[in-house]
Amino acid sequence: MKWVYIEDISKYVGMEVELRGWLHNKRSSGGIRFLLIRDGTGVIQGVASKKDTEKESFSLIDDLNQEASIVVKGKVREEKRSPIGFELTINSIQVIQNKEGYPISPKSHGVDFLLQNRHLWVRSSKQWAILRIRAEVIKAVEDYLWNKGFLRMDAPIFTPSACEGTTTLFGVDYFGESTYLSQSGQLYNEATCMGFGRVYCFGPSFRAEKSKTRRHLTEFWQLEPEMAYAHLEDVMELAEGMVGYTVNRVLKKRESELNTLERDTKLFLSIKTPFPQIRYEEAVRRVNELGESMELGEDFGAPQETVLSGSFNTPFMITHFPESVKAFYMRKESLNSDSTLSFDMLAPEGYGEIIGGGEREFDRKELEKNIKSRNLPMDAFKWYLDLRKFGSVPHAGFGLGIERMVAWICGIKHIRETIPFPRMLGRVYP
Ligand code: 4AD
Ligand code: MG
Repeated sequence: MKWVYIEDISKYVGMEVELRGWLHNKRSSGGIRFLLIRDGTGVIQGVASKKDTEKESFSLIDDLNQEASIVVKGKVREEKRSPIGFELTINSIQVIQNKEGYPISPKSHGVDFLLQNRHLWVRSSKQWAILRIRAEVIKAVEDYLWNKGFLRMDAPIFTPSACEGTTTLFGVDYFGESTYLSQSGQLYNEATCMGFGRVYCFGPSFRAEKSKTRRHLTEFWQLEPEMAYAHLEDVMELAEGMVGYTVNRVLKKRESELNTLERDTKLFLSIKTPFPQIRYEEAVRRVNELGESMELGEDFGAPQETVLSGSFNTPFMITHFPESVKAFYMRKESLNSDSTLSFDMLAPEGYGEIIGGGEREFDRKELEKNIKSRNLPMDAFKWYLDLRKFGSVPHAGFGLGIERMVAWICGIKHIRETIPFPRMLGRVYP
């Protein structure tokens, strides 16, 4: 008999198949037993009765516990009332393992308990839907870049230099030498893009974020494209194209997961490129107008981002941040200006920043000045400065935080549920 997956079940109507999975839930009504079987690709209802089911199999159903691992054979039927449109008439059940006391029952649990049991929690239907959408988002952004001619060039995780400031570094003793866990692959992208033209890296980024917010993890995944000869407008266009494509693709391919999450997708349908753009000064003015105070020259904090992004129905971009709130590598708008050729993309509905990027300083003298004025160790950046010595050209790029993007698409409040095993202040288990 053929082993099939629930996601392909429509191809097997009228046929006998084998499903290998776990018992999600069960109920009985008179002489009939209804088993919700999940196999990682979906959930199907199996129906067992004295008439259709082998005697031995039928008699063991009442002792099956939630998450018992089972191999079920049966016949696929169309069933209009089923959420997936199909049911299985069960012939036989083989029990691989069955134990009572699975800690996560369908009743509600506190979030600390669930995080402590994250290794089991990933099986629950809402978590399953979120992580399936995460996988789709990752594939979508990579496909988008690949189709635009970008090559994936992985960046190292152990790094000698800080990319995004020295306050959020995780230090690692590297055989007696002090290194850090990477905050961003950008600096390495700047090297590989001079070799390959258009590149991206995708991997974990680490930030010792000491604040507990719904937007921050200490380990998150970043997708970072970088283009030689590109300017700010070029990468902003790339970013909006990528986000638009990804939202559409999730809408098309992960509709049932979005339904499981009860995500209202109306707003997604009206998302069109180009996205609205406002300059930093205008954004600060609007934040104050919306009732959160902030001064020119300051960065947006969580409350400021929340009100501003709550006033939009579509992703939008803030451009030309002042030097004071951006990293050393940002190129200035003009020599005497303190505005930089930078942008952030914010998701609407209060979600806030999902992308940060801009044009890089490609003049060696200017870059050296920036490194000095921020008291960064010149030695660690020797190789980076080399890039400005040989064939230096304008170039630009950005970084997308996968978890923030997934949180917005899924419509969930806290990004801790958007990664299989979240790392945050006070949590490195399991
Ligand atoms: O804005 P950030 O710090 O930009 C950079 O790291 C650049 N070097 C990227 C580049 O130009 N190649 O981070 C980029 C994105 C943010 O917009 C956000 O989505 C995400 O990374 N991010 C975080 N996500 C979760 N937890 C955190 N602590 C995050 N910090 C940044
Ligand atoms: Mg940022």
